[in-house]
Amino acid sequence: MEVIIRPNADAAADLVARIIAKALHANPHLVLGLATGRTMETVYARLVRMNREEKLDFSLCRTFNLDEYVGLPASDRHSYRHYMNHHLFLQVNIDLRNTCLPDGTAADLDAECRRYEECIVKAGGIDLQLLGIGRAGHLGFNEPLSALRSRTRVKALAPVTRAQNAPLFANPDQVPHRAITMGVGTILDTRRCLLLATGAEKADIVAKAVEGPITAMISATTLQLHPHCTVVVDQAAAGKLQGSDYYRWIFENEPEWEAFR
Ligand code: GLP
Repeated sequence: MEVIIRPNADAAADLVARIIAKALHANPHLVLGLATGRTMETVYARLVRMNREEKLDFSLCRTFNLDEYVGLPASDRHSYRHYMNHHLFLQVNIDLRNTCLPDGTAADLDAECRRYEECIVKAGGIDLQLLGIGRAGHLGFNEPLSALRSRTRVKALAPVTRAQNAPLFANPDQVPHRAITMGVGTILDTRRCLLLATGAEKADIVAKAVEGPITAMISATTLQLHPHCTVVVDQAAAGKLQGSDYYRWIFENEPEWEAFR
């Protein structure tokens, strides 16, 4: 795992967008795993700008989102399909047919989860998976006790997750109780993971995810098992990390990060 600490949230999001852009330049057919949440909005705004101003090309890439609420159709503005269309897909030159999210309205949700896993396999697997982190440490909607080898499935949302996402709904009761999410095993099978966390309210959970023991109670800790995981945080979210001086030294001195400094 690599941890990169940037001075503020904008700089952290900018670095994440540049890592994605570099991967897209290197492989226009990139299979990109995407995430939702407020943290990602700045990353998508940067990518949209790069598409407009630097001709960053999305035309050949394919995307798979981590999760979707059960019961919300694409037309619902709280659905993650709506979020993705609004913040990224309809603003860049991506082919909408190449953008995949689980269908939370499918009549047979288990079949939909199996279909989603099969689509990822057919696409050749995910090259680069973007990740946020919930305040309780979930990846996607891998709530406490998510099996370390779990695949895409329906999960019941923990009260803390529903509370965290409630401000995005008119009324907290409207937050769905269940979601389809890629499993921990699905995420660990991706070729590279890129996690972005910003703000002081994420400092505790970032420290647990990066430096704490691996536990099914906090799915983000399983990233310690991933062979190529980059965690990008701002100063505030890095506040509780024990090894920040060491992580800073690596970013400032390792040749692989030269282009990003
Ligand atoms: C939701 C998503 C997660 C995301 C989390 C953090 O729960 N399912 O994938 O990481 O929100 O959101 P935010 O960036 O708003 O803190």
